[in-house]
Amino acid sequence: MSSAVGVADGNTGAEIVSAPQIAAGKSAELSVILPSFNEASNIPILVGLLDEALKGIDWEAIVVDDNSPDGTTEVARKIAQHDPRIRVIRRIGRRGLSGACIEGILASSAPYVAVMDADLQHDETLLPKMLAELKADDTDLVVASRKVDGGTVGEGLSSIRAWGSNIANGLAQKLLNVTLKDPMSGFFMVRREKAEALAPKLSPQGFKILLDLVSSANGTLKIKELPFTFRERQHGESKLDTLVTLDYFGLLLAKYFGDVVSVRFLMFGLVGASGLVVHLLALRIFLLGDMEFNLAQTGASFVAMTSNFFLNNQLTYRDRRLRGTQALVGLLTFYAVCSVGVLANVGVANLMYADPAYWWLAGTAGAIMGAVWNYAASSALTWRKS
Ligand code: GDD
Ligand code: MN
Repeated sequence: MSSAVGVADGNTGAEIVSAPQIAAGKSAELSVILPSFNEASNIPILVGLLDEALKGIDWEAIVVDDNSPDGTTEVARKIAQHDPRIRVIRRIGRRGLSGACIEGILASSAPYVAVMDADLQHDETLLPKMLAELKADDTDLVVASRKVDGGTVGEGLSSIRAWGSNIANGLAQKLLNVTLKDPMSGFFMVRREKAEALAPKLSPQGFKILLDLVSSANGTLKIKELPFTFRERQHGESKLDTLVTLDYFGLLLAKYFGDVVSVRFLMFGLVGASGLVVHLLALRIFLLGDMEFNLAQTGASFVAMTSNFFLNNQLTYRDRRLRGTQALVGLLTFYAVCSVGVLANVGVANLMYADPAYWWLAGTAGAIMGAVWNYAASSALTWRKS
């Protein structure tokens, strides 16, 4: 009755295929995760370079594309149609380098995964050496570093960015005890099981996946750094603007405080604090212009809310950024949310205000209440997930 191929199910007549029959092939040994946004002209070149560099290695590449308008997905799919080593994940309604890397890693079943930029700035000839390091001893993570002897940022980074990147590295080393020379590198290889175990702790926002991985591991990863030269970009343009560095500081703070609050909430708080400065500046200008105080205060509030809206739109919610009419509607809902926030703030402060000696306690409680409300309501209304 039962054959080697399968067993007939008496009730349904369906055939249950035995496991070995399904698992005919074997997963690749190495997955190269290629996060991409508008890299249509780089992907075909990169696949050729990988093919050359990874001779003798059983590899696959997973392009994780955030629905690039330049058709990167289609280009990658065309290659995948005649090269089964290439796989494609098209993400819709999501943006972010870290998130794309995490999804790529989780889509892999290879024992080793590498994360590498898809824009040819990373030297693919380093991959076999990185793999050899991981396989040779008990190393868990190999980082291609621009900062160890022999490595260099070459022509790949502008001097202002190289400077900023040094400060950011220093902070990471001081605050998080991360001893990596180049914690912002976007080029590394890791044992998949290690990355998989850490994945639930990682933040999909921003671009600091390596720092996140290492600091979340809390010293449990054995790390090695190899030097490489960061190449200059040939096609397309960099997506990392200066604003993205603020997001990096958000991660540093969140990790430093042991992940008690989310990076997003911290960003929201930082933007809120900047709003206070904007408010006072605007108020001063309006008053200098002989405006009546109540009017000046109301005007300053609107200036601060507007500035907060645009900063949050650029930073806190860069992955859900609103554009065009959506931004206008967003701004209006943000005004509404913040107005209720003021009521919540004053209400709680009033409740708490029993003793004049503790005015600051009541004030702080009110401000926190207002911030929590503004955050919760604006993420549900203004920047809701579409
Ligand atoms: N899926 C996806 N989504 N990919 C993205 C996104 C995104 O939102 N943003 C950028 N990428 C892809 C790019 O297409 C590229 O393949 C890679 O991520 C790196 O992005 P670039 O925009 O080229 O970054 P960069 O060259 O300015 O920055 C490099 O240096 C940083 C440190 O200074 C990268 O190596 C970073 O990873 C690194 O942290
Ligand atoms: Mn780049």
